[in-house]
Amino acid sequence: MKFRLLLSFMLFFPLLIPAQTASKPTVADAEQFMNQAEARLNEIVVKASRTGWVQENFITDDTEALAADANDQLTAVTTDLVEQSRKFDGLSMAPELARKFGLLKLALTAPAPHDPALRKEMTQIAVSLDGEYGKGKYCRTPEDCLDITAIEKIMGENRDPKQLQDVWVGWHKVGAPMRQRYARFVELSNQGAREMGFRDVGAMWRAGYDMPPEQFSAELDRLWLQVRPLYLSLHTFVRARLAQHYGAGVVPPDGPIPADLLGNPWAQEWGNIFPLLGLPEKSRGYDLTQLLQAKNLDAKGMVRYGENFYKSLGFAPLPPAFWERSLFTKPRDRDVVCHASAWDVDNKDDLRIKMCIQVRDVDFVTIHHELGHNFYQRAYKQQPLLFENGANDGFHEAIGDTIALAVTPEYLQKIGLLDKLPSADSDIPLLLKQALDKVAFLPFGLSIDQWRWRVFSGEVTPADYNKAWWELRLKYQGVAPPVTRSEADFDPGAKYHVAGNVPYMRYFLADILEFQFYRAMCQASGYTGPLNRCTFYQSKEAGAKLNKMLEMGASKPWPDALETLTGQRQMDASAILDYFAPLKKWLDEQNKGLKAGW
Ligand code: ASP
Ligand code: SER
Ligand code: ZN
Repeated sequence: MKFRLLLSFMLFFPLLIPAQTASKPTVADAEQFMNQAEARLNEIVVKASRTGWVQENFITDDTEALAADANDQLTAVTTDLVEQSRKFDGLSMAPELARKFGLLKLALTAPAPHDPALRKEMTQIAVSLDGEYGKGKYCRTPEDCLDITAIEKIMGENRDPKQLQDVWVGWHKVGAPMRQRYARFVELSNQGAREMGFRDVGAMWRAGYDMPPEQFSAELDRLWLQVRPLYLSLHTFVRARLAQHYGAGVVPPDGPIPADLLGNPWAQEWGNIFPLLGLPEKSRGYDLTQLLQAKNLDAKGMVRYGENFYKSLGFAPLPPAFWERSLFTKPRDRDVVCHASAWDVDNKDDLRIKMCIQVRDVDFVTIHHELGHNFYQRAYKQQPLLFENGANDGFHEAIGDTIALAVTPEYLQKIGLLDKLPSADSDIPLLLKQALDKVAFLPFGLSIDQWRWRVFSGEVTPADYNKAWWELRLKYQGVAPPVTRSEADFDPGAKYHVAGNVPYMRYFLADILEFQFYRAMCQASGYTGPLNRCTFYQSKEAGAKLNKMLEMGASKPWPDALETLTGQRQMDASAILDYFAPLKKWLDEQNKGLKAGW
């Protein structure tokens, strides 16, 4: 998912630079420069968001041209501002002001060359890739075309390996035509990053975490090592059960798992294959998809439940415009980017989500996820513009998922979706279902930008794009493509965040952070039992604690924000490990005698 803020600055007017002595700018000059920059940006950010909203909601040549133009202007002016801000380099200023200068330098996800022709080429490529992903379809026959919503449904529900493979291959064809333009995009954006003083775009992305980039990489290694044994236990179990279900000819019991058999086009969340894992039917005690369907809920009805959870924590209801302007279901007659996103169009109260909702459990989670962005955006709207953002991008992605973790049986019973609480026997099956999404995602979340960082740094060249992609997927996830791939393919392009140029490490961080946040909110609510059964629904204490962190936005280094909610200053995987501890023990019993790894 993507939320728009700093991505969408667009300036029409030249910035007014404060009068100052030519050679030696003062702190007062710097302050004045920043105030004017923020005021100007504030004024025009709305128009840029609107262009982006329209382009992703009505994909046509015209809306693409308009959005590309808007992005071009935004990029030009931001680049220019960064350039101008250099004259304050080395000036000693208050931490808050210095922080704003730092954030300004990182505001563009796709920095561009100064040369207007090159910049224009880059912004056009970027919009065309985004639109192409949105329009993407696999046509089995000229009359039978599947969009990504249909593909996700088939891959979640169909159990015929032949059909799964066909649909997987069909969807991945969307990537191939993007290859040349993606390579050009990388060149151009890298040039922009260098002109701004970064080694490459990846280095620029890694600079957004209040620590030296090498330290950030070391943090990622540390966290991955903490959670890797849990992932291996899950992988071993799932592979063995899938081999039983499909036969060893389809799932080799000691090799990687074919990526088309995990219930999702990208093998990133595996919850959909729970029924194949050999647990007794109904072992979970309930099935959320069935509960939602039994209630005859429609898309909007599901979003109402999401809003209600936030309200129960003390947050104000969503504004009426949210309900009028959001996109909740896939339109029948036009192309849209269906990949879910949350928007704050006027940086005040024009909150929206854009999502092609299906009535099923994973979408219920995604709704809470998107609303988390919206409530974060509203909580920090009193901050100055450059601080209107998450403490880091992982925080932004983690908020809604934290709330979704509290969608427990007890919660579902309280809100009248579930009659009878499942017995204690259901704990392991419920945890397994959760792990199929949350634990399986960890190496996926880690690998996407491992690939992109290597691409931006030049370590991976276009000649090896696809090879490197699958090497990393194999290394971290232990999955393999279901058919032989070559450099005629461009499988990264079939993943939204690559085509849409949305950084991805944020989702790995969020997967760790959300459990830390959840644990802290459970404690704030007075809960003391096992972590996986906690819901903080209706806890004003938990809500207040969360809100305190959200209100800070990006005004302080993220460890300060983390401390506000959790009392900790470090990202810490012990919360996710605690949560899944009973499952880990159970998995390891099931896995006795099985080889782990691939
Ligand atoms: N929340 C998701 C993401 O961040 C959106 C989705 O799963 O569709 O990309
Ligand atoms: N929402 C992100 C994605 O769809 C992470 O789950 O990739
Ligand atoms: Zn998101």
